[in-house]
Amino acid sequence: MLDIRSDLSNRDFVAALPKVELHVHIEGAIEPVTLFEIADRNKIELPYDSPEGVLAYQSDRRGAGRENLVSFLECLDISRDALRTPDDYRTITVEFLSRCGREGVRYVEVMFDPQQAIRQGVSFGDCVDAIADGRRVGWRDFGVRSQAIMCFQRDHDPEQASRLIEAADTHRDDIVGIGLDNFETPGFPAMFRAAYDQARQREYRLTSHCDVNQPDSADHIRACIEVLRVERIDHGLNVIDDPALLDLVLERDIALTGCPTYYTGQASSAEIRLEMHRSLLAAGACISLNTDDPAQFGSGWLSNTIWSAMEAAPFTRADIVRFTQNAIDAAWIDEAHRRELTTELRAFSGGYGEASVPAG
Ligand code: ADE
Ligand code: ZN
Repeated sequence: MLDIRSDLSNRDFVAALPKVELHVHIEGAIEPVTLFEIADRNKIELPYDSPEGVLAYQSDRRGAGRENLVSFLECLDISRDALRTPDDYRTITVEFLSRCGREGVRYVEVMFDPQQAIRQGVSFGDCVDAIADGRRVGWRDFGVRSQAIMCFQRDHDPEQASRLIEAADTHRDDIVGIGLDNFETPGFPAMFRAAYDQARQREYRLTSHCDVNQPDSADHIRACIEVLRVERIDHGLNVIDDPALLDLVLERDIALTGCPTYYTGQASSAEIRLEMHRSLLAAGACISLNTDDPAQFGSGWLSNTIWSAMEAAPFTRADIVRFTQNAIDAAWIDEAHRRELTTELRAFSGGYGEASVPAG
């Protein structure tokens, strides 16, 4: 048993922590070198000079007052546009899970955007199969268990989402849940009500992005809970600004998948974002720490994301253990698997001191 009171550095502590991730997009996890290989074989020209230029380009584009969700997604589009074949999806999934293995991630729920794949010439079935195949390799070769969340794009046709939910009936075992991502279209929850009703009938688990500090953030979160009846919100940090909404989240036990280094370019808001995580943890919300788009944000992979948040907030080791237990509690896994992950986390953290924020 590893005693986390020992002289481990914070970096070593985070490296050794058995980690779980609930919010990461496969299209945002393409290693720059792989992106170049994929673009090369698909004859796509990238606007970067070299793999090292990917983040630099994105930082430049995000600068000059354009540090927001829209400019981030425009940059992400450049990378994910290079994906053109099922093999591309398989490759990035295997590589991502290999990375998770090296990071000490035990279990991950990975999002994918089938509408993006279809627009780029990869059929729905081929995309789902390729990711499922990659996930099997991830478990067999790197010991990382994973499940896939099918996300619909909030700025695209909700009826296509309904059709894809029907198409997914023949792939039911390869998709654990449904989400919504991409640009935060005003009033998006009501538009996807029918699709979410269909998904609920099929017993998919339900989540949705509500990005941070968007116009109508609190209204969107409330509507996702009440209209779409989600169990989790991806980001959702603005819950902390609205006491009635916070009560609703606590009462319904809605989990929040926070991404503390989201838009690392936005230095001005990083501290506020960390404070929101701390306040939500203190309020007793089931909030976890996640990477979102580790290859595109500059947040780095999960260990770096957790370590950076820990140093900057600062969070204690006990706080980090709480965030990790929250991820385990909110994971869409069976109870035996949850017990196994909890037992490993407790063995790792056994007897460590109090969280810097009192339990809610
Ligand atoms: N797709 C990838 N990352 C996203 C984010 N943070 N918000 C919405 N869509 C995304
Ligand atoms: Zn996301």
